[in-house]
Amino acid sequence: MERFFFEGKEYSSHKNETVLDCLLRNGVKVTNSCKSGVCHSCLLKSTSSPDEISQKGLSQSKKEGGFFLSCQQKALSGLEVFMPDSSLLFVEGEVTSQVRITDTVVILKVRTLGDYPFKAGQFTNIIRHDGVCRSYSIASQTGERELEFHIRKVAGGELSNWLYEKDLTNQKIKLSEPLGECCLNDEMTGKDLLLIGVGTGLAPLYGVLKDSLVKQKMGAVKLFHGGLTAESLYMVETLKTIERDFDFFSYHPVFLNGKEKEGYIKGNLVDLIKELSFDKKNTVVMICGDPSLVKNLKQAVFLSGVPSKSILSDPFISQIPR
Ligand SMILES: Cc1cc2nc3c(=O)[nH]c(=O)nc-3n(C[C@H](O)[C@H](O)[C@H](O)COP(=O)(O)OP(=O)(O)OC[C@H]3O[C@@H](n4cnc5c(N)ncnc54)[C@H](O)[C@@H]3O)c2cc1C
Ligand code: FES
Repeated sequence: MERFFFEGKEYSSHKNETVLDCLLRNGVKVTNSCKSGVCHSCLLKSTSSPDEISQKGLSQSKKEGGFFLSCQQKALSGLEVFMPDSSLLFVEGEVTSQVRITDTVVILKVRTLGDYPFKAGQFTNIIRHDGVCRSYSIASQTGERELEFHIRKVAGGELSNWLYEKDLTNQKIKLSEPLGECCLNDEMTGKDLLLIGVGTGLAPLYGVLKDSLVKQKMGAVKLFHGGLTAESLYMVETLKTIERDFDFFSYHPVFLNGKEKEGYIKGNLVDLIKELSFDKKNTVVMICGDPSLVKNLKQAVFLSGVPSKSILSDPFISQIPR
């Protein structure tokens, strides 16, 4: 058994327990979501040295400030842990619009109260008043004042159902700092771009697409958006309009089940991508959405000859069951 201190009070951990799990087991409220080191919502501070793994992916200033991911840190004797000042971790935002665009997808727009620099393609954590927290990708273009989110209502899902069902216009929510690397950078200028989104995996790619249309000069830009049925695909008309307006952009809505539909491709997205002909050495590929499909698509793209450094992805992993 290990003993550590949180806010000056001693806690005893079970074997191999993380700081987060030990505190939650003892009724301490610590914001958390993925429990796998991705979302950074479980940040705590320590005056002793946290393990390297619990600081992986943090900025140098956060590392130096003693921040660590409590879901990745084993509860070890000698650790002195504190709750950071929440104003360092979260900003307030106000919901400005909420449009239920399909039976399961809501588009939420949020204006942050204060500066919120982000890059198109990044994600943030939305935190409800009671501390429930989940990650959502930002669908806005870099520098846009309002943050757009595409949220799919998951059966039995706590936060996605709240975000879809409850009338949230003018309500306040909290957001963590933006995170993630599925973004354009200067080295990519002039390359072709292949964007592959599954379900609400369209969200980060829509932001990246808008950047590629107006902010950053790219070569040919292709967007494949996959869903189970044609009806589950959303923003189809918006994307078709963009396709008409920009000749370097092509849009391919793909669905698996149901009758053939004009303007759509019926088929398996992974098979389609396997057979797709494109310049493997000069294309940046971004893949977002359902984790198992993202994994299969990444593998297909890599095996087709795209170097792994040119493949960026954001698997929408959900909270692991407690
Ligand atoms: C980096 C990142 C970015 C993300 N971006 C988006 C986004 O832009 N839009 C979006 O809609 N979601 C996104 N997600 C997923 C999101 O964070 C939540 O996991 C999702 O909304 C479910 O949360 P919940 O509270 O409703 O469900 P929970 O209460 O956490 O889960 C309830 C049950 O549903 C299952 N479940 C959770 N998610 C799914 C799923 N997707 N499919 C099937 N079963 C599921 C869980 O395993 C659990 O059994 C992202 C996740 C990550 C890590
Ligand atoms: S990184 Fe710890 S809960 Fe997500």
